[in-house]
Amino acid sequence: MEILAKKGKLEEEKCDLLVVNLFEGVTEPHGGTGAINEAVEGFIEELFVDDKFKGKLCQIFTFRALEWIPAKRVLVVGLGKRDDFDEEAIRKATAVSINEAKKLKAKQVVSIFHGAGVGGIKPRFAAKAMTEGAMLADYNFNKYKSNGQEIKEFIICEKLQGKTNQAEKGIVDGKITAEAAIYARDLVNESSEEIKPSKLVECAREIAKESKGSIRARIYDKEKLEKMKANALLTIAKGSHEPPYLIHMIYKPEGKAKKKIALVGKGITFDCGGLCIKPAEAMFNMKCDMAGAATVLGIFKALAELQPKYEIHGIIGACENMPGGGAVKPGEVVKTMSGKTMEILHTDAEGRVTLADTLFYAGKQKPDMIIDYATLTGACMIALGEEIAAIMGTNEDLVQKIKESSELAGEKIWELPLYQPYDFMIKSKIADTKNTTPKKYGGAITAGLLLKEFVPKDVAWAHIDIAGPAFAEKKINEYTKEGGTGFAVRTTLEFLSH
Ligand code: BES
Ligand code: ZN
Ligand code: ZN
Repeated sequence: MEILAKKGKLEEEKCDLLVVNLFEGVTEPHGGTGAINEAVEGFIEELFVDDKFKGKLCQIFTFRALEWIPAKRVLVVGLGKRDDFDEEAIRKATAVSINEAKKLKAKQVVSIFHGAGVGGIKPRFAAKAMTEGAMLADYNFNKYKSNGQEIKEFIICEKLQGKTNQAEKGIVDGKITAEAAIYARDLVNESSEEIKPSKLVECAREIAKESKGSIRARIYDKEKLEKMKANALLTIAKGSHEPPYLIHMIYKPEGKAKKKIALVGKGITFDCGGLCIKPAEAMFNMKCDMAGAATVLGIFKALAELQPKYEIHGIIGACENMPGGGAVKPGEVVKTMSGKTMEILHTDAEGRVTLADTLFYAGKQKPDMIIDYATLTGACMIALGEEIAAIMGTNEDLVQKIKESSELAGEKIWELPLYQPYDFMIKSKIADTKNTTPKKYGGAITAGLLLKEFVPKDVAWAHIDIAGPAFAEKKINEYTKEGGTGFAVRTTLEFLSH
């Protein structure tokens, strides 16, 4: 699907589907919608009289229009209440029209510029949100399916030249962020047989190659990991035939970097639980356990184009969690890269074990801040459900800024406390720490507390548990269907843009 901006009049556009909009409670259409209403002899106004349309967010009404205008059909989409209107409403309203266009088999869609006529949202941001909504809604993991119906063109049509120019810029911005999220979605949706640790290595190398010099990729294989004493990562990898890797990508801006940021992703390409094997249903979607790594790779995919003024390190510990003959046994004690020891009691709590080494390695790069992304705990899903990620951190400012960015990106993140008195639950009788707790309560927090042990005290750190929203079991909203969501890619790109 090509996305374009065009200076023109909606009532003159020839297309399969023409999208106009209305706010909730506005019974007299103005602007572009007003022009179409006039052209169709007041048909849109009449929708209100008949109570067919109220303008609620994402409410739609479609009618044939060929007898009045060059467009075959008109779709009126509700924008919701004017007071609640924001970028997320734009994303959703755009997405709903794309979904409808697909149902109608429309190839050419021309849309009014949502939000451009209303105060508050800059045209460039509005066009960015439209582009994200359109691309993410259009996304389908259809590699293994043969369905041809595609929208060819999505055109944002605007009367004024100045706003059209802004729309063009917004479309470029939106394409970068949506493509990055889609890249992460594809990695998560692909089977574990395709996405092995070595495949994540290939992805990192390719991203570096395509960056034309701004990104480098350093890869540590099993031999190097042994020399580095990355025993925690190696220990989880023991039960699989697939060798583990530590991936380290480095983005450097031109000129002096304002700050050094490390982004760490959990990269378990399949989590069957190890010897503490999961029940079958709990394993069905465990190809998604590398979603944190996919988030980091998605972000890096966009960095070369966005050129932020920060030095950014992307660090992924990649391996499988399998119950092979050499697998880690409950009760084993491992000396992590940091020197701290960990008793491994539950082999299904493997993420925190591999992250112990990857976070410690990130700390050694002396960054100003570390953000990690991990499908870490089922407990987090018990606490917040499937749509909300948890954030925990050692620096309130960092946590707040990430939360603000997530608001703008339309991704839901809620803070949980790193409650120090719970520390006793991760103390082992025979080692410095242990990877499970005696009680099941507070599992997202205790996992966070364990990670904290491996982050330098003087580095601002935020941990995002994406176990819930990284993989959607069902459709979440108009632009997030079942499967990998690319969660936190757009939030982080938003964060890096401020
Ligand atoms: N990868 C899982 C967490 C998970 C669950 C992610 C559901 C996405 C959806 C993690 O490695 C795990 O198995 N955690 C255990 C920890 C427990 C054994 C202490 C869990 O949460 O059940
Ligand atoms: Zn697990
Ligand atoms: Zn896991």
